[in-house]
Amino acid sequence: MAAEILDIAFAPFILPTSGALVLLIAEDTEPGEAQHAADAATQGAVSRALEAGEFKGRKGQSCIMLAPGAGLSRIVAIGLGKMAELTPHAVEEAGGRAAGAVQRDKHAAVAGALAPCQMAGLAMGAALRCYRFDRYRTKEKAEDKPRLATLHVLCAEPAAAKLAFAPLKAVVEGVFVARDLVSEPGNILTPTAMADRCEKLESLGLKIEILGPKELAKLGFGALLGVSQGSAQEPRVVVMQWMGASSGEKGKGKKKSHPAPIAFIGKGVTFDTGGISIKPAGGMEDMKWDMAGAGAVVGLMAALAGRRAKVDAIGIVGLVENMPSGTAQRPGDVVTTYSGQTVEIINTDAEGRMVLADVLWYCQERFAPKFMIDLATLTGAMIISLGHEYGGMFSNDDELAAQLFAAGTASGEKLWRMPLGEAYDKMLKSEIADMKHVGGRPGGAISAAQFIQRFVNGCKWAHLDIAGMVWTTKDAPCVPKGATAYGVRLLDRFVADHYEN
Ligand code: BES
Ligand code: MN
Ligand code: ZN
Repeated sequence: MAAEILDIAFAPFILPTSGALVLLIAEDTEPGEAQHAADAATQGAVSRALEAGEFKGRKGQSCIMLAPGAGLSRIVAIGLGKMAELTPHAVEEAGGRAAGAVQRDKHAAVAGALAPCQMAGLAMGAALRCYRFDRYRTKEKAEDKPRLATLHVLCAEPAAAKLAFAPLKAVVEGVFVARDLVSEPGNILTPTAMADRCEKLESLGLKIEILGPKELAKLGFGALLGVSQGSAQEPRVVVMQWMGASSGEKGKGKKKSHPAPIAFIGKGVTFDTGGISIKPAGGMEDMKWDMAGAGAVVGLMAALAGRRAKVDAIGIVGLVENMPSGTAQRPGDVVTTYSGQTVEIINTDAEGRMVLADVLWYCQERFAPKFMIDLATLTGAMIISLGHEYGGMFSNDDELAAQLFAAGTASGEKLWRMPLGEAYDKMLKSEIADMKHVGGRPGGAISAAQFIQRFVNGCKWAHLDIAGMVWTTKDAPCVPKGATAYGVRLLDRFVADHYEN
Protein backbone atom coordinates (compact mmCIF):
# COMPACT_ATOMS: atom_id res chain seq x y z
CA MET A 1 0.00 0.00 0.00
CA ALA A 2 1.98 2.96 1.26
CA ALA A 3 5.77 3.15 1.27
CA GLU A 4 7.29 0.56 3.59
CA ILE A 5 7.80 1.42 7.23
CA LEU A 6 11.27 0.86 8.63
CA ASP A 7 11.56 -2.50 10.37
CA ILE A 8 11.67 -1.76 14.09
CA ALA A 9 12.26 -4.27 16.89
CA PHE A 10 12.19 -3.63 20.63
CA ALA A 11 14.65 -5.51 22.83
CA PRO A 12 16.36 -5.30 26.21
CA PHE A 13 19.72 -3.59 26.23
CA ILE A 14 22.67 -5.65 25.09
CA LEU A 15 25.62 -3.86 23.54
CA PRO A 16 25.51 -4.59 19.79
CA THR A 17 28.67 -5.99 18.23
CA SER A 18 28.13 -4.58 14.73
CA GLY A 19 26.28 -1.82 12.92
CA ALA A 20 25.58 1.58 14.40
CA LEU A 21 24.63 2.48 17.94
CA VAL A 22 22.77 5.61 19.00
CA LEU A 23 22.99 6.74 22.61
CA LEU A 24 20.28 9.08 23.86
CA ILE A 25 21.81 11.37 26.42
CA ALA A 26 20.01 13.92 28.56
CA GLU A 27 21.58 17.12 29.82
CA ASP A 28 20.78 16.52 33.45
CA THR A 29 21.10 12.81 34.15
CA GLU A 30 24.08 10.57 34.89
CA PRO A 31 25.36 8.35 32.05
CA GLY A 32 23.19 5.24 31.76
CA GLU A 33 23.90 1.56 31.25
CA ALA A 34 24.29 1.85 27.47
CA GLN A 35 26.76 4.70 27.62
CA HIS A 36 28.85 2.87 30.22
CA ALA A 37 28.83 -0.35 28.22
CA ALA A 38 29.77 1.42 24.99
CA ASP A 39 32.50 3.38 26.73
CA ALA A 40 33.97 0.26 28.31
CA ALA A 41 33.89 -1.72 25.06
CA THR A 42 35.68 1.09 23.21
CA GLN A 43 38.35 1.69 25.85
CA GLY A 44 36.92 5.06 26.73
CA ALA A 45 36.54 6.34 23.14
CA VAL A 46 32.96 7.45 23.83
CA SER A 47 33.93 9.58 26.83
CA ARG A 48 36.83 11.10 24.93
CA ALA A 49 34.70 11.94 21.89
CA LEU A 50 31.92 13.51 23.95
CA GLU A 51 34.49 15.55 25.82
CA ALA A 52 36.31 16.66 22.66
CA GLY A 53 33.03 17.41 20.90
CA GLU A 54 31.80 19.43 23.89
CA PHE A 55 28.70 17.27 23.89
CA LYS A 56 26.47 18.23 26.79
CA GLY A 57 23.27 16.39 25.87
CA ARG A 58 21.52 19.57 24.86
CA LYS A 59 18.37 19.20 22.82
CA GLY A 60 19.24 18.73 19.16
CA GLN A 61 22.96 18.33 19.86
CA SER A 62 24.72 15.33 18.35
CA CYS A 63 28.17 13.81 18.21
CA ILE A 64 29.23 11.18 15.69
CA MET A 65 32.08 8.75 16.34
CA LEU A 66 33.19 6.74 13.31
CA ALA A 67 34.71 3.26 13.74
CA PRO A 68 34.92 3.58 17.51
CA GLY A 69 35.93 -0.09 17.99
CA ALA A 70 33.98 -3.00 19.46
CA GLY A 71 32.87 -3.94 15.93
CA LEU A 72 30.61 -0.90 15.61
CA SER A 73 30.53 1.21 12.43
CA ARG A 74 29.64 4.28 14.41
CA ILE A 75 28.33 5.52 17.70
CA VAL A 76 26.09 8.57 17.64
CA ALA A 77 25.19 10.54 20.73
CA ILE A 78 21.92 12.46 20.49
CA GLY A 79 21.06 15.13 23.06
CA LEU A 80 17.65 15.06 24.71
CA GLY A 81 17.93 18.30 26.68
CA LYS A 82 16.55 18.43 30.21
CA MET A 83 14.43 15.46 31.21
CA ALA A 84 11.67 17.61 32.68
CA GLU A 85 11.29 19.40 29.35
CA LEU A 86 11.19 16.24 27.26
CA THR A 87 7.80 16.47 25.54
CA PRO A 88 6.40 13.62 23.42
CA HIS A 89 7.20 15.64 20.34
CA ALA A 90 10.79 16.23 21.46
CA VAL A 91 11.15 12.47 21.90
CA GLU A 92 9.88 11.88 18.35
CA GLU A 93 12.37 14.41 17.05
CA ALA A 94 15.19 12.67 18.87
CA GLY A 95 14.10 9.45 17.15
CA GLY A 96 14.08 11.25 13.82
CA ARG A 97 17.57 12.63 14.40
CA ALA A 98 18.80 9.20 15.46
CA ALA A 99 17.45 7.61 12.28
CA GLY A 100 18.84 10.44 10.18
CA ALA A 101 22.32 9.86 11.61
CA VAL A 102 22.42 6.13 10.87
CA GLN A 103 20.88 5.94 7.41
CA ARG A 104 24.18 4.76 5.93
CA ASP A 105 24.18 1.69 8.15
CA LYS A 106 22.15 -1.39 7.33
CA HIS A 107 21.52 -2.17 10.99
CA ALA A 108 21.35 0.20 13.88
CA ALA A 109 20.34 0.20 17.49
CA VAL A 110 19.22 3.05 19.66
CA ALA A 111 19.46 2.88 23.43
CA GLY A 112 17.96 5.12 26.05
CA ALA A 113 16.69 5.10 29.61
CA LEU A 114 13.19 6.37 28.83
CA ALA A 115 9.71 5.14 29.68
CA PRO A 116 8.14 2.58 27.32
CA CYS A 117 5.76 5.10 25.76
CA GLN A 118 8.69 7.43 25.13
CA MET A 119 10.69 4.68 23.46
CA ALA A 120 7.62 4.04 21.28
CA GLY A 121 7.47 7.73 20.37
CA LEU A 122 11.15 7.59 19.57
CA ALA A 123 10.52 4.69 17.20
CA MET A 124 7.72 6.64 15.57
CA GLY A 125 10.02 9.59 14.95
CA ALA A 126 12.63 7.27 13.44
CA ALA A 127 10.08 5.67 11.14
CA LEU A 128 8.76 9.06 10.02
CA ARG A 129 12.26 10.20 9.14
CA CYS A 130 12.95 7.16 6.97
CA TYR A 131 10.18 7.87 4.47
CA ARG A 132 11.38 7.99 0.89
CA PHE A 133 9.49 8.26 -2.38
CA ASP A 134 11.65 6.57 -4.98
CA ARG A 135 9.16 4.88 -7.27
CA TYR A 136 10.46 6.70 -10.30
CA ARG A 137 14.21 6.48 -9.68
CA THR A 138 15.21 3.55 -11.81
CA LYS A 139 18.92 4.28 -12.08
CA GLU A 140 19.97 5.17 -8.57
CA LYS A 141 23.09 3.28 -7.49
CA ALA A 142 22.79 1.18 -4.36
CA GLU A 143 25.49 3.19 -2.60
CA ASP A 144 23.47 6.36 -3.10
CA LYS A 145 20.40 4.98 -1.37
CA PRO A 146 19.88 5.00 2.38
CA ARG A 147 20.72 1.56 3.67
CA LEU A 148 19.01 1.43 7.05
CA ALA A 149 16.88 -1.73 7.08
CA THR A 150 16.31 -2.50 10.76
CA LEU A 151 16.36 -0.42 13.89
CA HIS A 152 16.60 -2.10 17.27
CA VAL A 153 15.16 -0.03 20.07
CA LEU A 154 16.95 -1.10 23.22
CA CYS A 155 15.18 -0.29 26.46
CA ALA A 156 14.18 -1.53 29.90
CA GLU A 157 10.64 -2.66 29.07
CA PRO A 158 10.64 -3.71 25.42
CA ALA A 159 7.30 -5.52 25.57
CA ALA A 160 5.51 -2.45 26.91
CA ALA A 161 7.25 -0.21 24.37
CA LYS A 162 6.23 -2.51 21.55
CA LEU A 163 2.63 -2.42 22.72
CA ALA A 164 2.68 1.39 22.86
CA PHE A 165 4.18 1.52 19.38
CA ALA A 166 1.30 -0.35 17.69
CA PRO A 167 -1.10 2.63 17.40
CA LEU A 168 1.78 4.97 16.55
CA LYS A 169 2.74 2.68 13.72
CA ALA A 170 -0.78 3.07 12.32
CA VAL A 171 -0.30 6.83 12.39
CA VAL A 172 3.01 6.48 10.56
CA GLU A 173 1.20 4.36 8.01
CA GLY A 174 -1.38 7.14 7.59
CA VAL A 175 1.38 9.72 7.19
CA PHE A 176 2.98 7.57 4.50
CA VAL A 177 -0.34 7.21 2.68
CA ALA A 178 -0.57 11.00 2.57
CA ARG A 179 3.08 11.52 1.60
CA ASP A 180 2.76 9.01 -1.24
CA LEU A 181 -0.33 10.77 -2.58
CA VAL A 182 1.26 14.21 -2.36
CA SER A 183 4.50 13.03 -3.96
CA GLU A 184 2.86 11.50 -7.02
CA PRO A 185 2.94 13.62 -10.16
CA GLY A 186 -0.23 14.96 -11.75
CA ASN A 187 -0.13 12.62 -14.75
CA ILE A 188 -0.27 9.61 -12.46
CA LEU A 189 -2.44 10.88 -9.63
CA THR A 190 -5.52 12.05 -11.50
CA PRO A 191 -8.82 12.41 -9.63
CA THR A 192 -9.85 8.90 -10.69
CA ALA A 193 -6.50 7.43 -9.67
CA MET A 194 -6.69 9.12 -6.30
CA ALA A 195 -10.22 7.83 -5.76
CA ASP A 196 -8.99 4.33 -6.61
CA ARG A 197 -6.30 4.64 -3.97
CA CYS A 198 -8.89 5.72 -1.43
CA GLU A 199 -10.93 2.66 -2.29
CA LYS A 200 -7.98 0.41 -1.43
CA LEU A 201 -8.22 1.65 2.15
CA GLU A 202 -11.40 -0.38 2.54
CA SER A 203 -9.04 -3.11 3.69
CA LEU A 204 -8.56 -1.10 6.91
CA GLY A 205 -12.28 -1.21 7.64
CA LEU A 206 -13.18 2.16 6.14
CA LYS A 207 -16.45 2.50 4.27
CA ILE A 208 -15.79 4.20 0.93
CA GLU A 209 -18.25 5.72 -1.51
CA ILE A 210 -17.19 7.33 -4.76
CA LEU A 211 -19.28 9.91 -6.60
CA GLY A 212 -18.52 10.46 -10.29
CA PRO A 213 -19.58 13.19 -12.73
CA LYS A 214 -23.08 11.83 -13.23
CA GLU A 215 -23.89 11.68 -9.53
CA LEU A 216 -22.30 15.07 -8.95
CA ALA A 217 -24.28 16.67 -11.77
CA LYS A 218 -27.46 15.09 -10.46
CA LEU A 219 -26.77 16.42 -6.97
CA GLY A 220 -26.01 19.85 -8.44
CA PHE A 221 -22.36 20.31 -7.48
CA GLY A 222 -22.11 23.31 -9.82
CA ALA A 223 -19.12 24.87 -8.10
CA LEU A 224 -16.96 21.76 -8.15
CA LEU A 225 -18.02 20.81 -11.67
CA GLY A 226 -17.27 24.32 -12.91
CA VAL A 227 -13.64 23.84 -11.90
CA SER A 228 -13.47 20.38 -13.39
CA GLN A 229 -15.12 21.19 -16.74
CA GLY A 230 -11.91 22.31 -18.45
CA SER A 231 -10.15 19.03 -17.78
CA ALA A 232 -10.16 15.77 -19.70
CA GLN A 233 -9.99 14.07 -16.30
CA GLU A 234 -13.28 13.24 -14.61
CA PRO A 235 -13.88 14.59 -11.11
CA ARG A 236 -14.53 12.42 -8.07
CA VAL A 237 -15.84 13.02 -4.60
CA VAL A 238 -14.84 10.32 -2.12
CA VAL A 239 -16.78 9.83 1.11
CA MET A 240 -14.89 7.82 3.71
CA GLN A 241 -16.46 6.68 6.96
CA TRP A 242 -14.79 5.28 10.03
CA MET A 243 -17.41 4.25 12.57
CA GLY A 244 -15.11 3.35 15.42
CA ALA A 245 -17.35 4.53 18.25
CA SER A 246 -20.86 3.51 17.27
CA SER A 247 -20.19 0.21 15.51
CA GLY A 248 -17.36 -0.96 17.75
CA GLU A 249 -17.27 -3.76 20.29
CA LYS A 250 -20.50 -4.19 22.19
CA GLY A 251 -20.89 -4.83 25.87
CA LYS A 252 -19.06 -1.74 27.07
CA GLY A 253 -22.31 -0.39 28.48
CA LYS A 254 -23.64 3.20 28.27
CA LYS A 255 -23.88 3.36 24.51
CA LYS A 256 -25.49 6.49 23.20
CA SER A 257 -27.69 6.26 20.14
CA HIS A 258 -25.58 7.45 17.23
CA PRO A 259 -23.89 10.62 18.42
CA ALA A 260 -22.98 13.00 15.61
CA PRO A 261 -19.75 12.13 13.80
CA ILE A 262 -16.86 14.51 13.32
CA ALA A 263 -15.94 15.45 9.77
CA PHE A 264 -12.81 16.29 7.79
CA ILE A 265 -12.93 17.74 4.30
CA GLY A 266 -10.02 18.06 1.89
CA LYS A 267 -9.24 20.11 -1.19
CA GLY A 268 -7.99 17.67 -3.79
CA VAL A 269 -6.92 19.57 -6.88
CA THR A 270 -4.66 16.94 -8.44
CA PHE A 271 -3.09 19.62 -10.62
CA ASP A 272 -3.75 23.35 -10.55
CA THR A 273 -2.73 25.17 -13.72
CA GLY A 274 -4.94 28.08 -12.71
CA GLY A 275 -7.31 27.32 -15.58
CA ILE A 276 -8.05 30.19 -17.98
CA SER A 277 -6.52 32.56 -15.38
CA ILE A 278 -3.38 30.52 -15.99
CA LYS A 279 -0.47 30.56 -13.59
CA PRO A 280 3.02 31.68 -14.64
CA ALA A 281 5.25 28.80 -15.81
CA GLY A 282 7.90 29.19 -13.11
CA GLY A 283 7.26 26.77 -10.28
CA MET A 284 4.00 25.50 -11.69
CA GLU A 285 5.23 21.93 -11.16
CA ASP A 286 4.59 22.50 -7.44
CA MET A 287 0.89 22.48 -8.17
CA LYS A 288 0.95 18.69 -8.28
CA TRP A 289 0.63 18.96 -4.51
CA ASP A 290 -2.52 21.05 -4.62
CA MET A 291 -4.33 17.94 -3.42
CA ALA A 292 -2.43 17.83 -0.12
CA GLY A 293 -5.47 18.83 1.95
CA ALA A 294 -7.29 15.81 0.56
CA GLY A 295 -4.14 13.73 1.01
CA ALA A 296 -4.05 14.65 4.69
CA VAL A 297 -7.72 13.74 5.12
CA VAL A 298 -7.14 10.36 3.48
CA GLY A 299 -4.02 9.77 5.58
CA LEU A 300 -5.89 10.74 8.73
CA MET A 301 -8.75 8.34 7.96
CA ALA A 302 -6.19 5.59 7.35
CA ALA A 303 -4.53 6.39 10.69
CA LEU A 304 -7.82 6.39 12.61
CA ALA A 305 -8.92 3.12 11.05
CA GLY A 306 -5.46 1.59 11.39
CA ARG A 307 -5.38 2.20 15.11
CA ARG A 308 -9.08 1.37 15.57
CA ALA A 309 -9.78 4.82 17.03
CA LYS A 310 -12.95 4.97 19.14
CA VAL A 311 -14.51 7.76 17.15
CA ASP A 312 -17.05 8.17 14.37
CA ALA A 313 -15.32 10.18 11.68
CA ILE A 314 -16.22 11.20 8.15
CA GLY A 315 -13.62 12.17 5.58
CA ILE A 316 -14.72 13.71 2.30
CA VAL A 317 -12.39 14.80 -0.47
CA GLY A 318 -13.24 16.75 -3.62
CA LEU A 319 -10.95 15.63 -6.44
CA VAL A 320 -10.61 17.68 -9.63
CA GLU A 321 -8.01 18.89 -12.08
CA ASN A 322 -7.96 22.62 -12.92
CA MET A 323 -7.13 23.02 -16.61
CA PRO A 324 -7.52 25.63 -19.33
CA SER A 325 -9.27 24.39 -22.46
CA GLY A 326 -12.13 25.12 -24.81
CA THR A 327 -14.52 23.72 -22.27
CA ALA A 328 -12.99 25.51 -19.31
CA GLN A 329 -14.84 27.90 -17.08
CA ARG A 330 -14.35 31.64 -17.82
CA PRO A 331 -13.88 34.62 -15.54
CA GLY A 332 -17.29 36.24 -15.36
CA ASP A 333 -19.17 32.93 -15.44
CA VAL A 334 -21.86 32.46 -12.84
CA VAL A 335 -22.30 29.02 -11.27
CA THR A 336 -24.98 27.67 -8.99
CA THR A 337 -23.46 25.82 -6.07
CA TYR A 338 -24.90 22.74 -4.34
CA SER A 339 -26.14 25.07 -1.58
CA GLY A 340 -28.24 26.97 -4.12
CA GLN A 341 -26.18 30.13 -3.72
CA THR A 342 -24.81 31.60 -6.95
CA VAL A 343 -21.19 32.63 -7.42
CA GLU A 344 -19.54 34.92 -9.94
CA ILE A 345 -16.20 33.50 -11.05
CA ILE A 346 -13.54 36.22 -10.99
CA ASN A 347 -10.33 34.26 -11.30
CA THR A 348 -10.38 30.61 -12.29
CA ASP A 349 -7.23 30.11 -10.24
CA ALA A 350 -9.32 30.52 -7.07
CA GLU A 351 -10.65 27.00 -7.62
CA GLY A 352 -10.05 25.34 -4.28
CA ARG A 353 -12.74 27.29 -2.47
CA MET A 354 -15.26 26.28 -5.16
CA VAL A 355 -14.51 22.62 -4.57
CA LEU A 356 -14.78 23.06 -0.80
CA ALA A 357 -18.03 25.01 -1.07
CA ASP A 358 -19.98 22.09 -2.50
CA VAL A 359 -18.33 19.42 -0.40
CA LEU A 360 -18.84 21.32 2.87
CA TRP A 361 -22.49 21.98 2.18
CA TYR A 362 -22.99 18.32 1.25
CA CYS A 363 -21.21 17.15 4.38
CA GLN A 364 -23.24 19.18 6.85
CA GLU A 365 -26.50 18.37 5.07
CA ARG A 366 -25.92 14.63 4.90
CA PHE A 367 -24.11 13.94 8.17
CA ALA A 368 -25.05 16.80 10.54
CA PRO A 369 -21.56 16.48 12.07
CA LYS A 370 -20.45 17.88 15.44
CA PHE A 371 -18.10 20.06 13.45
CA MET A 372 -16.30 20.16 10.12
CA ILE A 373 -12.59 20.78 9.64
CA ASP A 374 -11.39 21.48 6.13
CA LEU A 375 -7.80 21.33 4.95
CA ALA A 376 -6.66 23.07 1.80
CA THR A 377 -3.61 24.45 0.02
CA LEU A 378 -5.88 27.38 -0.58
CA THR A 379 -3.93 30.61 -1.00
CA GLY A 380 -0.49 31.95 -1.76
CA ALA A 381 -1.45 34.77 0.59
CA MET A 382 -1.34 32.31 3.50
CA ILE A 383 2.32 31.61 2.75
CA ILE A 384 3.01 35.35 2.69
CA SER A 385 1.37 35.65 6.12
CA LEU A 386 2.88 32.76 8.05
CA GLY A 387 5.68 31.39 5.88
CA HIS A 388 6.39 27.72 6.37
CA GLU A 389 6.18 27.64 10.17
CA TYR A 390 2.47 27.57 10.93
CA GLY A 391 -0.65 26.51 9.14
CA GLY A 392 -3.35 29.18 9.14
CA MET A 393 -6.50 28.39 11.12
CA PHE A 394 -9.86 30.12 10.74
CA SER A 395 -12.78 29.10 12.91
CA ASN A 396 -16.25 30.16 13.97
CA ASP A 397 -15.83 28.35 17.30
CA ASP A 398 -13.35 29.30 20.03
CA GLU A 399 -13.33 25.91 21.72
CA LEU A 400 -12.62 24.06 18.49
CA ALA A 401 -9.88 26.58 17.66
CA ALA A 402 -8.30 26.14 21.10
CA GLN A 403 -8.32 22.36 20.79
CA LEU A 404 -6.73 22.52 17.36
CA PHE A 405 -4.14 25.02 18.50
CA ALA A 406 -3.15 22.75 21.40
CA ALA A 407 -2.95 19.70 19.13
CA GLY A 408 -0.73 21.70 16.80
CA THR A 409 1.71 22.53 19.56
CA ALA A 410 1.71 18.96 20.89
CA SER A 411 2.21 17.33 17.50
CA GLY A 412 4.71 19.85 16.18
CA GLU A 413 2.37 20.59 13.25
CA LYS A 414 1.69 24.09 14.45
CA LEU A 415 -1.32 26.30 13.74
CA TRP A 416 -1.87 30.01 14.13
CA ARG A 417 -5.36 31.46 14.35
CA MET A 418 -6.34 34.09 11.82
CA PRO A 419 -9.31 36.47 12.03
CA LEU A 420 -12.71 36.31 10.38
CA GLY A 421 -15.18 39.17 10.29
CA GLU A 422 -17.89 41.17 8.63
CA ALA A 423 -15.52 43.60 6.93
CA TYR A 424 -13.70 40.79 5.15
CA ASP A 425 -16.98 39.19 4.18
CA LYS A 426 -18.08 42.39 2.43
CA MET A 427 -15.19 41.99 0.00
CA LEU A 428 -17.17 39.20 -1.65
CA LYS A 429 -20.03 41.37 -2.87
CA SER A 430 -20.96 40.77 -6.51
CA GLU A 431 -23.03 42.89 -8.89
CA ILE A 432 -24.48 39.91 -10.69
CA ALA A 433 -24.62 36.94 -8.30
CA ASP A 434 -25.03 36.21 -4.58
CA MET A 435 -21.31 36.63 -4.21
CA LYS A 436 -18.02 36.60 -6.03
CA HIS A 437 -15.39 34.11 -4.94
CA VAL A 438 -12.36 36.41 -4.74
CA GLY A 439 -12.01 39.45 -2.52
CA GLY A 440 -8.81 40.97 -3.88
CA ARG A 441 -5.19 40.71 -2.81
CA PRO A 442 -5.18 42.37 0.64
CA GLY A 443 -6.06 39.73 3.24
CA GLY A 444 -6.44 37.16 0.47
CA ALA A 445 -6.33 34.15 2.78
CA ILE A 446 -8.99 35.71 5.00
CA SER A 447 -11.50 36.59 2.31
CA ALA A 448 -11.03 33.05 0.99
CA ALA A 449 -11.96 31.74 4.44
CA GLN A 450 -14.96 34.09 4.51
CA PHE A 451 -16.10 32.63 1.23
CA ILE A 452 -15.87 29.10 2.60
CA GLN A 453 -17.76 30.10 5.74
CA ARG A 454 -20.77 30.90 3.56
CA PHE A 455 -21.01 27.17 2.84
CA VAL A 456 -20.91 25.71 6.34
CA ASN A 457 -24.52 26.65 7.10
CA GLY A 458 -23.81 27.59 10.71
CA CYS A 459 -22.08 24.29 11.54
CA LYS A 460 -19.09 24.49 13.88
CA TRP A 461 -16.14 24.66 11.56
CA ALA A 462 -12.44 25.26 11.19
CA HIS A 463 -10.60 25.93 7.97
CA LEU A 464 -6.90 25.10 7.82
CA ASP A 465 -5.04 26.85 5.00
CA ILE A 466 -1.97 24.65 4.76
CA ALA A 467 -0.48 26.02 1.53
CA GLY A 468 2.89 26.70 3.19
CA MET A 469 3.14 23.43 5.08
CA VAL A 470 2.65 20.52 2.75
CA TRP A 471 5.98 20.45 0.98
CA THR A 472 9.46 21.12 2.34
CA THR A 473 12.79 21.66 0.65
CA LYS A 474 14.93 20.68 3.62
CA ASP A 475 15.09 17.71 5.96
CA ALA A 476 13.56 18.15 9.41
CA PRO A 477 14.01 15.55 12.18
CA CYS A 478 10.81 13.65 11.40
CA VAL A 479 10.13 14.97 7.91
CA PRO A 480 12.54 14.27 5.09
CA LYS A 481 12.42 16.83 2.31
CA GLY A 482 9.39 16.53 0.04
CA ALA A 483 5.82 15.81 1.05
CA THR A 484 5.22 16.43 4.76
CA ALA A 485 1.73 14.97 5.26
CA TYR A 486 1.10 18.01 7.43
CA GLY A 487 -2.26 17.64 9.14
CA VAL A 488 -2.27 13.89 9.71
CA ARG A 489 -0.42 13.91 13.03
CA LEU A 490 -2.06 17.18 14.06
CA LEU A 491 -5.58 15.86 13.58
CA ASP A 492 -4.81 12.41 14.92
CA ARG A 493 -3.60 14.12 18.11
CA PHE A 494 -6.69 16.35 18.16
CA VAL A 495 -9.02 13.36 17.82
CA ALA A 496 -7.13 11.31 20.42
CA ASP A 497 -7.16 14.15 22.94
CA HIS A 498 -10.82 15.16 22.67
CA TYR A 499 -13.06 12.88 20.64
CA GLU A 500 -12.38 9.28 21.58
CA ASN A 501 -14.44 7.52 24.18
N1 BES B 1 -3.41 26.25 -5.06
C1 BES B 1 -3.35 27.67 -5.08
C2 BES B 1 -2.72 28.25 -3.82
C3 BES B 1 -1.26 28.05 -3.69
C4 BES B 1 -0.39 28.87 -4.37
C5 BES B 1 -0.75 27.08 -2.87
C6 BES B 1 0.97 28.70 -4.23
C7 BES B 1 0.60 26.91 -2.72
C8 BES B 1 1.47 27.73 -3.41
C9 BES B 1 -4.76 28.25 -5.21
O1 BES B 1 -5.63 27.50 -5.97
C10 BES B 1 -4.63 29.57 -5.89
O2 BES B 1 -4.20 29.58 -7.00
N2 BES B 1 -4.96 30.63 -5.18
C11 BES B 1 -4.86 31.94 -5.72
C12 BES B 1 -6.12 32.68 -5.37
C13 BES B 1 -6.24 34.02 -6.05
C14 BES B 1 -6.43 33.82 -7.53
C15 BES B 1 -7.40 34.76 -5.46
C16 BES B 1 -3.65 32.61 -5.10
O3 BES B 1 -3.39 32.40 -3.90
O4 BES B 1 -2.93 33.28 -5.81
MN1 MN C 1 -5.48 27.93 -8.03
ZN1 ZN D 1 -5.27 25.48 -6.03
